[in-house]
Amino acid sequence: MYQQLYDKLAPYGQTQLLRFFNQLNAMEQAHLAAQIQALDLPELDRLIREYVLQRKPITIPEDLKPAEFFPLHPVDADQAAWYERARARGEALLKEGKVSALTVAGGQGTRLGFDGPKGTYPIAPLSHKTLFQYFAESLLRAGEKYGHPLTWYIMTSVINNQATQEFFEKHDYFGMEPKRVVFFIQGTMPAVGYDGKLLLGAKDSLSLSPDGHGGTLLALRKSGCLDRMKAERVEYLSYFQVDNPLVSVVNPLLLGLHALEDSEMSAIMLSKTGPFEKLGNFCTSHGRLWIIEYSDLPEALATSRNADGSLCFVAGSPAIHVLNRSFIERLTADGQLSLPWHRADKKVPFVNEAGLLVKPEEPNAVKLESFIFDALPLAERTMILEADRREEFAPTKNQTGVDSVESCRQMLIARDARRLMAAGVKLPLTPEGDPAVQVEISPRAVLDDEDAAAYCRSRKLTEIKQDTYLE
Ligand code: UD1
Repeated sequence: MYQQLYDKLAPYGQTQLLRFFNQLNAMEQAHLAAQIQALDLPELDRLIREYVLQRKPITIPEDLKPAEFFPLHPVDADQAAWYERARARGEALLKEGKVSALTVAGGQGTRLGFDGPKGTYPIAPLSHKTLFQYFAESLLRAGEKYGHPLTWYIMTSVINNQATQEFFEKHDYFGMEPKRVVFFIQGTMPAVGYDGKLLLGAKDSLSLSPDGHGGTLLALRKSGCLDRMKAERVEYLSYFQVDNPLVSVVNPLLLGLHALEDSEMSAIMLSKTGPFEKLGNFCTSHGRLWIIEYSDLPEALATSRNADGSLCFVAGSPAIHVLNRSFIERLTADGQLSLPWHRADKKVPFVNEAGLLVKPEEPNAVKLESFIFDALPLAERTMILEADRREEFAPTKNQTGVDSVESCRQMLIARDARRLMAAGVKLPLTPEGDPAVQVEISPRAVLDDEDAAAYCRSRKLTEIKQDTYLE
């Protein structure tokens, strides 16, 4: 076996992976051998030359322009009528069972500093429901409201798949039917040292990490999920990230506009809070839609302004999409998908020549990831809808500060307080008009303003005086 592996690695200068092979027991040897056999070395060699041994400059097209979008509020009666039709269409698609939910939850969540899958973080302000529970209950309510139960596809990775599945089992799938919660695992990419050599994470293992959420599309095919969707006549996927509990898990207006506009991949956009907010930027070039990541948009473009002082590139991505199943089928038809790779410099622990595990203090290696939004320019038609960030986007990236657990909880409370007030409930307010008490409404009971009004009516709820959890 050694010789066979050696012959595979030698042409690419990667035989260091076998340095400890003869010290391993049979099981460990088989483990490492399987990982090496799975490597596409010609392709990896190309990527290492392109992305690791040199820093491939990011090319920004000359004709880059801000993308157009459907505004939050329709601009005239015709558009208002179009939105009405779209909303009805979206509701019909949900009723007919044409929609499933898709959450990417394979990331490492290092910034949050939480040990465990991010979805198991207790985010809800008063009930302390986890992100997964929050989404599950929202989906249950949506299924009930629109008259067809929703199936939830959750992408995990080798890092967290087992822990995620065990969590759902332990909590009885939060009331969802187990057959409607479908886990699938994304692919991996090996970490590469700055010298172009693949790293060992242990003597019997490469250092492998998730291949980015661009891996979703191929993983959906390889796992058989696309076939299942086809058999169940599901045509649309409502896509969101595991870190954003404020998202409308299914959005009838977005789904309906997507369908009426004959879009293959659509997106929600938010007005950025400033030129450097950490959101992908919606841009067009050569008639195609692109999201250019915040870290890649040149400062001159990020700060450019229109005559009225507003940002030219104002449209930021909260990573909320609708994708056609047929679009994913087309992109992955031959079992391959080549999205561009993005380089991330990381501190990657590795086994050194002496066989010791080294935990570097400085970045020492490159991880390559692909991004799902790089599929946008491959779509024949796309559509963007503006949303109110207070209603759709409260990402949980850090413990405190911007995009944090703290800010997310505040936004959940503020949204639920708005819903209650819109339903006629009196709440104590601060001089700034913010709720002076903490309120939380269970997403199992209330999905939207309409639900909130019905909920308050049926419970004769007219006033809230202290911190209250409503379920
Ligand atoms: C991401 C988007 C950014 C968007 C912002 C909104 C990228 C590169 N950028 O930024 O355009 O404006 O969210 O909040 O995604 N994930 C996987 N597998 C992976 C990597 C990530 O499933 O291999 C999942 C994570 O679990 C998470 C999501 O993808 O749900 C986003 O990952 P994260 O690293 O938090 O992206 P951001 O840099 O915050």
